[in-house]
Amino acid sequence: MRSTAPRAATPRRYLMCPPAHFRVTYSINPWMDPGKPVDLPLALAQWEDLRDRYLALGHTVEELEPRRELPDMVFAANGATVVDGRVLGARFAHPERAEEAAVHAAWFRAQGYTDVLEPEHINEGEGDFAVTASWLLAGRGFRSSPLSHPEAQEFFGRPVIGLDLVDPRYYHLDTALCVLDDTTDGEIMYYPGAFSAGSREVLRRLFPDALVATEEDAAALGLNAVSDGRHVLLPQAAVGLFEPLRARGYEPIGMDLGELLKGGGSVKCCTQELRA
Ligand code: ARG
Repeated sequence: MRSTAPRAATPRRYLMCPPAHFRVTYSINPWMDPGKPVDLPLALAQWEDLRDRYLALGHTVEELEPRRELPDMVFAANGATVVDGRVLGARFAHPERAEEAAVHAAWFRAQGYTDVLEPEHINEGEGDFAVTASWLLAGRGFRSSPLSHPEAQEFFGRPVIGLDLVDPRYYHLDTALCVLDDTTDGEIMYYPGAFSAGSREVLRRLFPDALVATEEDAAALGLNAVSDGRHVLLPQAAVGLFEPLRARGYEPIGMDLGELLKGGGSVKCCTQELRA
């Protein structure tokens, strides 16, 4: 029997970057159409809503200084992966974003983090790494190199579970899978259609009780969500996820990040979690 008791939130520390220079002038994922105008003041207001929501929930938000020449910097989740205070830096697949990696690494060093690895292999941070109580779930296929998986396992000393992404709309793991409760290895939601047959089978074996999203909710980028163990902030258009989340004891909070969706990202992409 699945428990429906209210869940407990734990205070989190997030790293975000305001979309001051956000624009879509190139296309490195199917969501990006440089012909579609971005309403920058609206993008900023939507982003501020997300940040203010985290603050209202009692979380801490650190902010990175945006750079004019890096329009995708708002997608701060891609800049690193932090677990147990260890920082695995990113290495981006596309030249348009390459310089973001050094900006993140420099920020961590300036904050006093001493264990910062600038990786040899391509990995796009929390775009492709998701953290459960004891594992790292790791996406590959579009951005992060399969070789980044053993590199992450060696660095964090946590088992890495490689998952093959097969649908270009779900080019990062965090567009297709979200860890709801990171105090266990059991609570995730995901969209099976984003994964290869073998990876779907792996997910079924490891997460038999997972919340399985429909194509419609996945297409609203509903899996690009952030959970603090109780509150789940997710794109408001993913209406089909709200009831199943409530039935599991979570409190879904719908966010409108419509302008950032034009860059191919939503709640999670804008939020990197700093785990101690
Ligand atoms: N335009 C960005 C890119 O294609 C969006 C990144 C979204 N981030 C994420 N964590 N999925 O790289």
